[in-house]
Amino acid sequence: MSRYFLGITGASGHRYAERLARALLAGGHELDLAVTDAGAKVLRHELGVAVDARGRFEAQELERWLGPAAAGRVRSFASDQVEAPAASGTSGTRAVLVCPCSMGTLARVAAGFSSNLVERAADVALKERRPLVLVPRETPLSELHLENLLRLARLGAIVLPAMPGFYHAPRTIDDLVDHVVGKVLDALGLEHREGARWTGELSGDPGCEPPGGR
Ligand SMILES: Cc1cc2nc3c(=O)[nH]c(=O)nc-3n(C[C@H](O)[C@H](O)[C@H](O)COP(=O)(O)O)c2cc1C
Repeated sequence: MSRYFLGITGASGHRYAERLARALLAGGHELDLAVTDAGAKVLRHELGVAVDARGRFEAQELERWLGPAAAGRVRSFASDQVEAPAASGTSGTRAVLVCPCSMGTLARVAAGFSSNLVERAADVALKERRPLVLVPRETPLSELHLENLLRLARLGAIVLPAMPGFYHAPRTIDDLVDHVVGKVLDALGLEHREGARWTGELSGDPGCEPPGGR
């Protein structure tokens, strides 16, 4: 069991954060969560999930959102709480995930701003050479966005856009979301049941089976 830091920013796609957090908890892991100011607005808008004025979850809201597995295994931090464990390389955070990642946070991480806890945790992952997985969501991408993505990829971040495939015959939005979430978990080397795995068959049967079957 490990502890992961999940930074949630003001990009669209908070369902990805939800499914990712639930999958990590289902895997027996612990989570540190921080939501940027813009992230709090989009979280409320897209999922009807509320944080307090400083961006922290109350325990009840957290369990309502992520289920009973969140009880006692999720620590919620304000985005200005730069004294949080993940802000230090000594904290033992196994990996930092920014999902969804806005172009603003992306730019500030690429420039080393560390102006809030999400950016600082990402900066620490880079300096400590621990996994940093960024799940950017924007379209179209400007040259500046592309430069920032390339810069971060060259610095060692795993750039994993919220860009689900359709070759596994998704039927629901969650099937699409889980395709991306499964990729994040693969990038972390974690066992999971999220997303279908390609079996190499093109016709007839959709050709995909979820690991462990449905
Ligand atoms: C409903 C909504 C959806 C948004 N979607 C995106 C998006 O997909 N990608 C993006 O880069 N910014 C998006 N934004 C804009 C960011 O929230 C904005 O640039 C913000 O300053 C990012 O701040 P943060 O990086 O600190 O979270 C969206 C804003 C709103 C209100």
